[in-house]
Amino acid sequence: MTEREPALSVRDLSKTFTGQRALDKVCMEVLPGEVHALVGQNGSGKSTLIKCLSGYQSPDPGGQISVAGVRVQTPLSAADAAHHGMAFVHQDLGIVQSLTVLENFCLGRGFSTGPIGNIRWRVEAQRVRRLLADFGHDIDPRVEMRRLSSSDRTIVAIVRALAALEHQPHLLVLDEPTAALPKVEVDFLFAAVRNAASRGIGIIYVSHRLEEVFLLADRVTVLRDGVRVGTFRVADLTENDLVELITGRKIGEYSPPTTWAAEKDPLIEVENLSGARLKGVSFSARRGEVVGVAGLLGSGCSELARLIFGADVRQDGTIRFKGNQVNYRIPSQAIKDGIGMISEDRRLDGYFSRLSVRENISITDLRRFWKRGRLDRGAERREIAALMREFQVHPPDPDRRMADFSGGNQQKALVAKWVRLKPDLLICDEPVVGVDIGSKVDIYRILERIAAEGATVLLMSTEFKDLAALCDRVIVLNKGRIVGELVGAHLTKECIARLAYAS
Ligand SMILES: Nc1ncnc2c1ncn2[C@@H]1O[C@H](COP(=O)(O)OP(=O)(O)OP(=O)(O)O)[C@@H](O)[C@H]1O
Ligand SMILES: [Mg+2]
Repeated sequence: MTEREPALSVRDLSKTFTGQRALDKVCMEVLPGEVHALVGQNGSGKSTLIKCLSGYQSPDPGGQISVAGVRVQTPLSAADAAHHGMAFVHQDLGIVQSLTVLENFCLGRGFSTGPIGNIRWRVEAQRVRRLLADFGHDIDPRVEMRRLSSSDRTIVAIVRALAALEHQPHLLVLDEPTAALPKVEVDFLFAAVRNAASRGIGIIYVSHRLEEVFLLADRVTVLRDGVRVGTFRVADLTENDLVELITGRKIGEYSPPTTWAAEKDPLIEVENLSGARLKGVSFSARRGEVVGVAGLLGSGCSELARLIFGADVRQDGTIRFKGNQVNYRIPSQAIKDGIGMISEDRRLDGYFSRLSVRENISITDLRRFWKRGRLDRGAERREIAALMREFQVHPPDPDRRMADFSGGNQQKALVAKWVRLKPDLLICDEPVVGVDIGSKVDIYRILERIAAEGATVLLMSTEFKDLAALCDRVIVLNKGRIVGELVGAHLTKECIARLAYAS
């Protein structure tokens, strides 16, 4: 029996951006039917490696790429990548929000045409609906992407990539596919990935969630600063081993939150709040507290965040903030009162990809830099560079476009933006999505710190383990209602999960 060629073989792949080596002679081999995880800290080069394979970036000369034993000329085009049987789901999904699901499917693939060259929309729509149904999702192909939830958008991107594998499938690459996906949906994705692998397709799977690596992958390649640290069989590693390989340091446990001399009166009181999903939610929170809000997709966590922030319209209920009844109709009113919000999906709001970090950070607070009718750019730049170093945004260049940072570094910049405003209440809706394990701990420490300094932090998250470790107490939402509040010995990952999953 002859050995099968690797699905992908990469030799000495390098990529230099102006003055920066993002990949340094990286080698990697993916076998047919193997799920191969690719991990590393924010900015370590994962997405760059993938973009060199997909034809989005040209690698430096000298590297070699082969797919199923066939040498691929570099730089390659997107068409070359597809021709060789490589399919991709990128970190930003590669989806056009203003087009429908169907149009997104047809992008770059061409349309099925009738005898006179007309596009057969009905046929195409049926086909796409069936593909999505095979994946367990009932999504109308004629709906605009922007109307879908972020989880449905992710599913569309994945199903589209899998559909592209119909011809010559060799390699499926998923760059942080679960970053915008709630935990319950992850099972669908895993099933689809395993299914593809069982058909002999090699899979590259990028994720910061190490438990996913252990659940799904056969082997793992670790990158650090553009260099391959090594490739390992997952079965040979513990989670601690992997963390050390990724960070090059040992990560300590979180320090217990410092208690702030609590005021008697709550900073925020929510009573009987109802919206599209939420039903009669009441709770309050004091200064110095980190209060977790846990729940599955559709449980109403994000809606609660948006209702308080004035980004959604409530149907019923009252909110008192600093003792006054408030009714924000737009977020800017909430911001003025001292409320900040780090949103679940950095691609949708709160962030302008074409503007620099400096502009993104100071956009909410330019007044500070006006001096005698002129904007003091020097002061602005210095402050923001210092802030970027404090929050470990790499590289700490205030004038770099947001889009040119790695995904996790974009998220850290957004956290920096809000923390800098010193809000009294900071609402964090999935703040560590796409953030590597080292930076995740850093962000959590920052949240603890601002609470210790007297702010209230509301933390919406599906990372139950982190909630249990970080929060003073956790409110659990289930189908729009509060089904429990956990403190002390009851505040465990298992208890949160039991309440969140209860039907
Ligand atoms: N278009 C670009 N121009 C300049 N530098 C870039 C560009 N794209 C990426 N980089 C730099 O290359 C390095 C690797 O980035 P890359 O996006 O590959 O990281 P990553 O491992 O995917 O990180 P993350 O986990 O945050 O997504 C980073 O330092 C990043 O700032
Ligand atoms: Mg990336």
